Amino acid sequence: MTDSAQDGEWWQREAIYEVYPRSFLDTDGDGVGDLTGIRRKLDYLQWLGVGAIWLTPVFRSPMRDFGYDIADYREVDPAFGSLDDLDQLLAEAHARDIKVILDFVPNHTSDQHPWFRASRSSRNNAKRDWYIWRPPGSDGGPPSNWLSILGTSAWQLDPATGEYYYHAFLPEQPDLNWRNPEVRAAMLDVMRFWLDRGFDGFRVDVIWHLIKDEQFRDNPVNPAYIEGMAADQRLSPVFSTDRPEVHDVVVEWRTLIDGYPGAVLIGEAYLPVERLVAYYGDETRREVHLPFNFQMFWAEWSAPAIAQLVESYEGTLNHAAWPNWVLGNHDQPRIGSRLGSERARLAAFLLLTLRGTPTIYYGDELGMTDVPVPPEQVQDTFGQRVLGLGRDPARTPMQWSAEPNAGFTTGTPWLPVPPDAATRNAAALTEDARSILWLHKRLLSLRRDEPALSMGSFVSMGAQDGVFSFLRQDGESTFLVMLNFDSTSTSAVAPLEGELEIALSSHLDREGERCRQGIPIGPFEALLLRPLRR
Ligand code: NOJ
Repeated sequence: MTDSAQDGEWWQREAIYEVYPRSFLDTDGDGVGDLTGIRRKLDYLQWLGVGAIWLTPVFRSPMRDFGYDIADYREVDPAFGSLDDLDQLLAEAHARDIKVILDFVPNHTSDQHPWFRASRSSRNNAKRDWYIWRPPGSDGGPPSNWLSILGTSAWQLDPATGEYYYHAFLPEQPDLNWRNPEVRAAMLDVMRFWLDRGFDGFRVDVIWHLIKDEQFRDNPVNPAYIEGMAADQRLSPVFSTDRPEVHDVVVEWRTLIDGYPGAVLIGEAYLPVERLVAYYGDETRREVHLPFNFQMFWAEWSAPAIAQLVESYEGTLNHAAWPNWVLGNHDQPRIGSRLGSERARLAAFLLLTLRGTPTIYYGDELGMTDVPVPPEQVQDTFGQRVLGLGRDPARTPMQWSAEPNAGFTTGTPWLPVPPDAATRNAAALTEDARSILWLHKRLLSLRRDEPALSMGSFVSMGAQDGVFSFLRQDGESTFLVMLNFDSTSTSAVAPLEGELEIALSSHLDREGERCRQGIPIGPFEALLLRPLRR
């Protein structure tokens, strides 16, 4: 694979694979995954056919939020290894044509970061304004009603100086002040540091949080809030997130990134699509290449709902904006649990045949499911502090083999390995040519071989009788994708004339079969068809 093999940039053609390093492979027996572990599994990732790995943060951190609380942006945390290990991982990934995307966490640091220690030391410290400090509000309480992820005030009083600092997440994750030019310059230096070492770009954490209202106005009550929703949803975060000035910051980053050909910027933003797509920027002010599209996390799983979702997303993008799709990540329940094993195959088929860059969450290619974690073993600080916020179940060790602890560690894994790991593991599924693992491999390989399936156009054929169909086309090459979202077999009407051949079925058992109108399609089956030339 070379960058000139097909049109388009690598981050358009290739699939991204999210690695949660704590849970990938432990090579030193401490129960926590490490960089050497990821390096040892590069052959597996190459075999699978992904073009890039995104590593969630591996930088020095007290691990209150497992790396999303950074104490040194330029050092690797000893739990994962060393800077040399990271460089070596990059070199060996590149040797296999796999790019490495790092996690950039600019919104907040750890409270242990030297910048914050200096900032909180006195009101006159040179770094005071690097964070968001405010005097108490008129009632002597917090400066505004803003809520943190925990659903309680996002302002923490620091008795030493009598002021509050703002933290959108944990109190141990103070927010940086992105209105301060020194902060911007320091973080651009961090980006340069990693880009100069050859890394292929960044996934940017909570990009829409960076800039807060200059006047710190109270957030309004969320009219859509109902009991049972997370407590931070009580207010609409209109003054604490997605402020217009954030786009100036993203433009600065993109300008930097554009000096490193091939490097990619991916933005994490949980926003309605119309506001999400603003993070692409425009012709004159480019922003991120890919604002993560999380719509599938909450989508109703039916043919009309998915057809509508895909059509409206495609319709919202302008010609320069490249789509992307995400089925799972380390903050959400796994797709295998959300949908069950049969529909998880259908979801993989959809993810890997739609137009746009797919992101695969580690273990989803095995159909891994959420693993229950008993209350006394909860590791995620969010879950320890607020019942229901824990994300441990979707972060359990990668299931490599039938060995003890699924071959993840020789020690005690930091999160439990489920009993089904004895059969649902990479080694076993590699031997099973009809497994969900092989489904991923086959689809990824077809995407590489067929420009229609990567850079090709997308035309929806809509939903009919439980089946969502669409065309992918490039020049003379056309593919028809049909996905049956229902639990019953049906005979689907193909929107193409003539004889068709099945290039791939999600059950991996009908390849080469020929059909005409009235295509039999099984429960939750997906088909990739191509017209036969006469
Ligand atoms: C989003 C990350 O994905 C999540 O894991 C983290 O807790 C928050 N950002 C805060 O950094």
